[in-house]
Amino acid sequence: MAGVGIWFLGFVAVIYVYYRVQKHLARSRRLPPGTMGWPIIGETMKFYTQHPNLFFSSKQKRYGEIVKTRILGYPAVMMATPEAAKLVLVTQAHLFKPSYPVSKEKLIGRSAVFFQHGAHHQRIRHLLQACFTPDVIRESVGEIESLALRTMNSWEGRSICTFAELKKFSFEVGFMLSCGNDDHVDKDELLQTYRTMEMGYNSMAINIPGFKFNKSMTARKRLHTIIAGMVERRRDSGVMKSDVLGTLMKDPALTLDQIADNVIGVVFAAQDTTASVMTWLVKYLSGSPSILADVKAEHDEIRASKSSDDEGLTYADCKNMPLTHRVILETLRNATVLSFTFREATEDVEYNGYLICKGWKVLPLFRNIHHNPDIFPDPYKFDPSRFEKAPKPNTFLPFGNGVHSCLGSELAKLEMFIFVHHLVTKFRWDLLEPKAGIDYRPFPVPKEGMPMRVSQRRTKAE
Ligand SMILES: *[C@@H]1O[C@H](CO)[C@@H](O)[C@H](O)[C@H]1NC(C)=O
Ligand SMILES: *[C@@H]1O[C@H](CO)[C@@H](O)[C@H](O)[C@H]1NC(C)=O
Repeated sequence: MAGVGIWFLGFVAVIYVYYRVQKHLARSRRLPPGTMGWPIIGETMKFYTQHPNLFFSSKQKRYGEIVKTRILGYPAVMMATPEAAKLVLVTQAHLFKPSYPVSKEKLIGRSAVFFQHGAHHQRIRHLLQACFTPDVIRESVGEIESLALRTMNSWEGRSICTFAELKKFSFEVGFMLSCGNDDHVDKDELLQTYRTMEMGYNSMAINIPGFKFNKSMTARKRLHTIIAGMVERRRDSGVMKSDVLGTLMKDPALTLDQIADNVIGVVFAAQDTTASVMTWLVKYLSGSPSILADVKAEHDEIRASKSSDDEGLTYADCKNMPLTHRVILETLRNATVLSFTFREATEDVEYNGYLICKGWKVLPLFRNIHHNPDIFPDPYKFDPSRFEKAPKPNTFLPFGNGVHSCLGSELAKLEMFIFVHHLVTKFRWDLLEPKAGIDYRPFPVPKEGMPMRVSQRRTKAE
């Protein structure tokens, strides 16, 4: 009898293994094409060191518009069509949750809005949305303008690192709009602390003294203390404000940690991306003298309508810079400083006959969409006139799309309008290394942060 039992068990085991193998094969046949590289290191090194277009383009040529690979040790699917971007970001967004490197999530803080998914996300996003409506941001034109002028006036007669300067400017704008002006806060210390924190974003999350991440976490703790101080002073004074900090404070359900994470997150989101786009904008204008001349004319006309040189811009002025608007859109397109975004499939998803497995990373590749010649003919040409017509849905995604799209897009544009206005009306500039290549840090920026020499613009013809 025992013999039969063993035979039977053996038979069941064989059937089971056969079934599993078949199932595995059937599944893997439905996976998108592509290679997975070595586990752990995978194709990550290539991905970070190569131009992101190149990494995907070579695969796209071999495998098509949807490709599997391995990034940062995770299996991943890269997608480079407007339809795929729409699926992941809009129509099936609930099946794809945001996914970020651990060190970034720990440094910014887990509760920051862009790490959230589902109902809690909706609640925080709804709160923050109220801080970025046109009615709110129009009130900040004057403050942004004085920060811009202070920054730019310090450039006169100097050679500057453009990206570093613009990063400081967008940090100040981001912080001022999030937390207002608190005289108890030492602004230099704040900036230094933030810098120390962000150095750890792409480090390994090893929290032991001596490691970069530990130093960044210490800076992060200090930021938390600074924000806690601001919260306390506001509570003591009883003044309610409608900036980001004030808006978050009004929600009794939010803890101090949740408030701090979101303030740090908003400043993070407002900073590198905006600074990098503004740097590219200056670069592209420098390379297109006739477009620059037209932009100058647009802004000289606005200047001419003012009764004095010191009279500031109004929100209406900023909404009436059509050429500059197209220049900004074209800069956003060609530079695509956010090359892609990371999501993770929360269940198995079927797309165009392919299987995207639960737990896999999913990357809509904005850069490849923005540089697709079928969508934007002659894609590497800087041609603002292509935005005289609105782009087709899901072909232009500088601020993402759907429930996680950038809340600050209008504010970022406002910052750029004000920056361009004063740059072209008051200054002239020369790039010191106009042929320099690109650094990925990880946002693309011209090498060395694009050094340039700035002087006063004396005549209209300059
Ligand atoms: C730095 O590392 C030490 C040792 O692991 C740890 O106790 C400390 O909390 C870390 N610092 C921060 C700010 O996390
Ligand atoms: C547009 O971007 C591409 C890819 O980064 C670059 O090669 C090209 O030079 C850019 N166009 C201009 C006009 O700078």
